Formats: sequence, structure tokens, C-alpha cells
Amino acid sequence: MCGIIGYVGGAPAIPVLLAGLKRLEYRGYDSAGFALQRGNELVALKSVGKVARLAEKTRDTWSSEAQRTPCTGIAHTRWATHGSPTEPNAHPHFAEGGGIALVHNGIIENYRAIRTRLEAKGHVFVSETDTEALARLIGECHRGDLRAAVIAALRQIEGAYGIAVLSRDEPGVIVAARKGSPLVIGVGEGESLVASDPAAIIAHTRRVIYLDDGDVARITADHVDIIDLDEARIDRAVGVLGFAAEAVEKGGYEHFMLKEIHEQPEALRNALRGRLDLPQGTAVLAGMGASPRDLAEIRRIILLGCGTSLHAGQVGEHAFCDLAGVPAGVQLAAEFRYRNPLVDPSDLVIAISQSGETADTLAAVREAREKGAVVLGLVNVVGSAIARETGRGVYLHAGPEISVASTKAFTCQVAVLLQMALRLGRGRRLSRERGIEIAAELARLPELVGAVLAREADIAAIAQRFIGREHAFYLGRGPMHAVALEGALKLKEISYIHAEGYHAAELKHGPIALLTPGTPVVVLANRSSVRDKVWGNAEECRARGSCIIAVVTEGDEAPGADEVLRIPACDPLVATIPAAVALQLLAYYVARLRGCPIDQPRNLAKSVTVE
Ligand code: F6R
Repeated sequence: MCGIIGYVGGAPAIPVLLAGLKRLEYRGYDSAGFALQRGNELVALKSVGKVARLAEKTRDTWSSEAQRTPCTGIAHTRWATHGSPTEPNAHPHFAEGGGIALVHNGIIENYRAIRTRLEAKGHVFVSETDTEALARLIGECHRGDLRAAVIAALRQIEGAYGIAVLSRDEPGVIVAARKGSPLVIGVGEGESLVASDPAAIIAHTRRVIYLDDGDVARITADHVDIIDLDEARIDRAVGVLGFAAEAVEKGGYEHFMLKEIHEQPEALRNALRGRLDLPQGTAVLAGMGASPRDLAEIRRIILLGCGTSLHAGQVGEHAFCDLAGVPAGVQLAAEFRYRNPLVDPSDLVIAISQSGETADTLAAVREAREKGAVVLGLVNVVGSAIARETGRGVYLHAGPEISVASTKAFTCQVAVLLQMALRLGRGRRLSRERGIEIAAELARLPELVGAVLAREADIAAIAQRFIGREHAFYLGRGPMHAVALEGALKLKEISYIHAEGYHAAELKHGPIALLTPGTPVVVLANRSSVRDKVWGNAEECRARGSCIIAVVTEGDEAPGADEVLRIPACDPLVATIPAAVALQLLAYYVARLRGCPIDQPRNLAKSVTVE
């Protein structure tokens, strides 16, 4: 969703800001803008559409010499919430006749009341946004000290924010504050940066300070000073980012999505590293933070997530029931707190989120904690809101995921959930022998996924079957039902073909009416106790002339299938991962054939920070 980058130091800010905005593009946005502090004035530029358009406008507005003038600046990519994507609604927003500029991520919930109050005082708003209300409120509170004005305004705000603010009267200063929307400060040599996402600053420095909720920072080129809303001093340690600049580059691939699909053997290696105990047939997950006795007392597991993370939870549900014998159920995070859920201290709640910022999942975490449940985060982004809020959990270690469509985070989520189930199972009914078998299968994951990646060309050829098609179906049973849902989600979000993931047995209860000759039906028919049943369901589709694309275990026949996609033989729970990788590649090549903007599909954002 929205992105922030700010720069203060001896270099020209414009190229730094534009490059930072480029890095934030993956989050999804529809307009962009920046403000610069030059001499005793603030200048700004905004545009609707891509950052490239803003860069073009910059070139048309300033000579290359003017663009190279050292200055301080803040910039923003906006994903429209309050008001359509227009230039007046794009950030920065201003106060004091252009003397204060603000960029903001998040939502000011009481902005209507503030706006009405300010309008009564004579303010004439130029946008429909909630952010302008905050900018003007800061202006109203300004008595010469920018940070004091920001604090006074934030005390009156309800909602979530990550903000960066400039004043024409304080050259070389950015004030930044957060509540519920992430901000990270980059500490460079004679320069500082602030961003909503480390990807925007990694090219400059790996030394960072993560702001926490309630922090208000005054940032200059060589100093960062943090206080809270009560003006008490806060010390935050400088950390080092755990990835290098190359991790957020395409590295020779045409799209981030393809790169991230190919990174999966390594990502899985990292998600498994140091966690599998092969001789004991278990997993050691320190982040679970509970003693064996605590784990033995867990009576029920609730898995929470949205979208792809929800699908990972669905695989987890099967694993916890099958391996650990613990009743487990996945719940849509967006529904959780509105259902007055029955949760008690013997429940383990696992919140699954790549970004760790998803508003619905975060709200569900808060609800579960309030009801006394033990809540674990299963998160990729280190230091993100869910990781902080849960306080304990297991990181995925998948590395930065830039493409909007989640790939490596999904497979790592499943790998971690399977390890958790193994750990819980070994404390309960799972025998050491069976534990050893499962652990050995998990250890093979990088190799299993590598074998699927080696078939990329075959999968790319199968993608032709989707050309000219408006609809597709993905069918699976058991844990492969979750993979069917995920395969369909991947296809629809990046190729814009309508796809339905369905339980194979449910198709005949309604959706089979939609099948026409040639409709692609992807059937997940790998070796498992229900393989023959799935084949039966595939036959029903074949009898209606559908194009059957079968995902089968190496060495198995696929009688009557139009196309066959083979995955290596492995345990049926573990097989969800190589199968998902095959479907990621399939969706990617279909989208490519259709010429879609794969890394940034229309209307989508990488982290969904609104409910
Ligand atoms: C789809 C996708 C989304 C996310 C969902 C939750 O490819 O990426 O469905 O899975 O928005 O995001 P996180 O995992 O960040 O909570």
C-alpha cells in the first residue's frame, strides 16, 4: 500500500527520493509525490500514475543542475483510500500556506471531526483526504518547533499513522512518527533516511532504527533523537538489516515473481535451518517459546490469516490434526473479531502473515490476546507489527518478497507449520519412527522444489492451454484443497483469468454447470489416500470436454489427462509445497503470455494495512 521515503544529508534529495519510490512500487499505489526543503521554502511535485511519470515531470520542471542541488526531502506513493487517485489527493499535503509538508501512511479515523473544526476556523481544504486534516492540524499547533507541533497534533488523532514532516523554517530536519504503520530510519555516513520499508533505503545503508508505536523522531543528517508523545526520551538500538541490496533487485530475472519462485530452494533451506532434529524426528522452534509441558497442554489450535497466508493455514490445519492429533481450524482473520470467538488460555492461536502488517490479521491478534489465548506470529518481515504485537513466534526467513503475488512466503509458511505440527506431534501421539520419516521428508524440500523448477519449460508450454480462456478450475482434496485454492488465487491475481479453487468432490454440487469444452481444470491428483477419488472427480470434468491438467506423482499414470505436471514422490503433506511451486510457475507463464504486469497487478497492494 502507501510508501514513504525521506532523505536528509549532503546529497541531492531528488534522485534518492525517486529511487526510493521505485523500490516501494511493489507495495501497490496509484499516485506519487515529493516535497523538498530548499533555502527557506518548500517545493513540491505530484503526479497520478507511476513513479516514472513523476520522474518525467521532475525533468520537465527542473534543470538537471537544479535537480542536483543538495536538499532535504520527503516522498510518498499513495494507494487511494479517502478520495480517488488525483493530484490534489496525492501526498505531500500542506499547512501554513505551504510552510509544512506531510506524507502519511495509515488512516486518521477522526479526520471528519478535525476537518469540520478546522473548516469552521476558515481552513479551505484542497483534497478529500484524511491526511490533509492532519497536515492542517499540525499547522494549527505550530509555534516554531516542528516536532512539538507534530506531537500536539498527534495527541488529538485517532487511527494509524506513519508520517514524515518537513517545515520550511527548519532546514535539514525531518520529523517522523509512527503508530500502527511501520517506519524505519536508515543511519548513514553524514546522511539519514526514513522509510516505511527497508527496501527503500538498503542501497544507502544497512544500519537501521525501527521506530515503535508512539515514537516521534527528529532526524538530521548525523543525529536521530526520539521521544514519545509525553516527550520522554526513548533509546532505540541501531540494528543491521539482515539482507543485502541485491535481495531487492531482480538479479537478471524478468520479474521479481520469477526470481522469488526460483529462490524457494534457498528460502526453504533457511526456513528449515537449525530447526529439524533428524535423529529425534522432531523440530526445534525456539520462537514457539513454550515448555514441552505448555505445548502438551494446548487443547486447540486456531490459525488466522488472509489470502495466501490463509491457504497456508489450511495446510497447517491438516498437519496439526494428522500429525499432532490436536483439533485445529483455520479462520479468516477479517471475520475473527466480529464473531465474538470462543477463545481461552488453552488455545494456541497462530497468526500467519508475510508482511506482518495486514490490518485484519493484526486486529484478530489483538482480539485473541485480549481473550487470553497464547498467540504466536508466523511472519516474514522482521520487526513488523504482528511480530512485535505477538512477542513470540517463528520467522519464515524467506527473505524480502517484492512481487505482490506471494510465492516463497507461502511455501515457507507451510514448511514452518509442518515443523510446528511435527514438534507438537512428537510431544503427543507421533511415534519417533514416524517423526523421523516426516523430518527426513521436510529436509528434502529444497531438492523436491528444485526438481519442479527443473521442469519450468514443460510448465511454460502447458500455459498455452489457458490462452483465450476466461475461466479455469483447480481441484484438490485434503491438504491439496488448500493448494487448489492457492493455485487459483495465483492465476486470477496475476493473469486476470477468473479461476476457482474447489474441493474436488464439491464441483458436482454446483460449479460443474460452468464447465464447457476446453475449460482448463487443474487436478491435484498426487499419490495419497484419496488419489482415486480425485481421479473420479477429474473424469466427471473430462466427460464434459474440459481440458484436464493433472498434477501427479512422478511414476504415476495420468490416464486421459490432456497435460501432465509431475512432482517428485513424497509425503502427501510435504507434497503441498512442490505442487504449489508448479502452480506458481503455471500462473506466471499464463500471465506472461497474456502480457500482464506480473509484479504489480492492477488494484492490488503488497501489504494490506486497511480493513
Ligand atoms: C496473494 C497475496 C495476498 C496476501 C494477503 C495477506 O498472492 O499475497 O493474498 O497473502 O494479502 O498478506 P500477509 O501475508 O502479508 O498478511
